[in-house]
Amino acid sequence: MKNEINKIAKDTNYFLKKFINNQNSSNLISAMKYGLFPGGKKIRSKILIDFGSLFSISYNTLIQIGAAVECIHAYSLIHDDLPCMDDDKIRRGKPSTHIKYGESTAVLAGNSLLTMAFEILSNKNLDLPEKIKINLIKKLSECSGHLGIAGGQYLDLHYEKKKISKSKIIEMEIKKTGMLFSFCCVAPAIIKKKKNSELRFFGTIGSDIGLLFQISDDLIDNKGNSKIAGKKTGKDEKKGKATLISLIGYDNAVKYCDNLIININKKIKKYGPNTKKIKKTLEHILKRDR
Ligand code: IPE
Ligand code: IPE
Ligand code: MG
Ligand code: MG
Ligand code: MG
Repeated sequence: MKNEINKIAKDTNYFLKKFINNQNSSNLISAMKYGLFPGGKKIRSKILIDFGSLFSISYNTLIQIGAAVECIHAYSLIHDDLPCMDDDKIRRGKPSTHIKYGESTAVLAGNSLLTMAFEILSNKNLDLPEKIKINLIKKLSECSGHLGIAGGQYLDLHYEKKKISKSKIIEMEIKKTGMLFSFCCVAPAIIKKKKNSELRFFGTIGSDIGLLFQISDDLIDNKGNSKIAGKKTGKDEKKGKATLISLIGYDNAVKYCDNLIININKKIKKYGPNTKKIKKTLEHILKRDR
């Protein structure tokens, strides 16, 4: 598992470096690269590749789409750490982008990474029909905006220090984190021009995987080691973040994740033996080092 993810990370970073180096330089490039490289786990790209293998989509195409996702993810982390949001000074084992470059540069570098994702998807080197590229861009923009990451981040901040119901917490976690995973699961089906009901099926599987990922991140924040995580832990409780752990406790949150995994595996079983890889990735998400 680790080897496979490391290879995906290497190939993604290689693509992104080449893509950036092919553009004209600017004053923001340095802060953008700082937020992108050496980068995180690339778990979203791994999910995209796992689901892509259900439909035999080329690895190279998936790496490029994954690179677009990782740009959006990196932007969301740069903004998430800003003083007006989570106010975190360490990210991926080094000072957060705004600590290194200042707040205004971090905001603008984040914006530029967000738009770079769409430059990648609309680039002529991405070997897909134009119509498919437009559908991918449409889905990725929906997952990033007010119905996805941005909307979820709004809820996350507005729920601080309040008693929030389980269904509202889950809705918030699905928006801020689940929707980008949802894109990763649905993108291969979009490429294969599957019908709407199948797109909805993969979209829901993806948001459940993202929910699993966010609860696992909350578990790491609660009990994990900050050296392994590459960021400060114990911060959710200090800030009064509304998480499933704050509502039902650590052990029940683990049980909730176990059930999520069982249900996701049940649903995808009909896609045959290739779903084994997905099953392993889900286990990895919940059991990763903390
Ligand atoms: C952290 O995401 C933020 C969440 C959505 C929970 P990751 O844990 O995927 O961050 P990196 O990319 O590995 O640093
Ligand atoms: C971040 O969630 C979700 C995003 C969309 C960026 P967190 O605030 O829990 O992520 P960390 O713990 O700072 O990485
Ligand atoms: Mg946050
Ligand atoms: Mg945060
Ligand atoms: Mg967290």
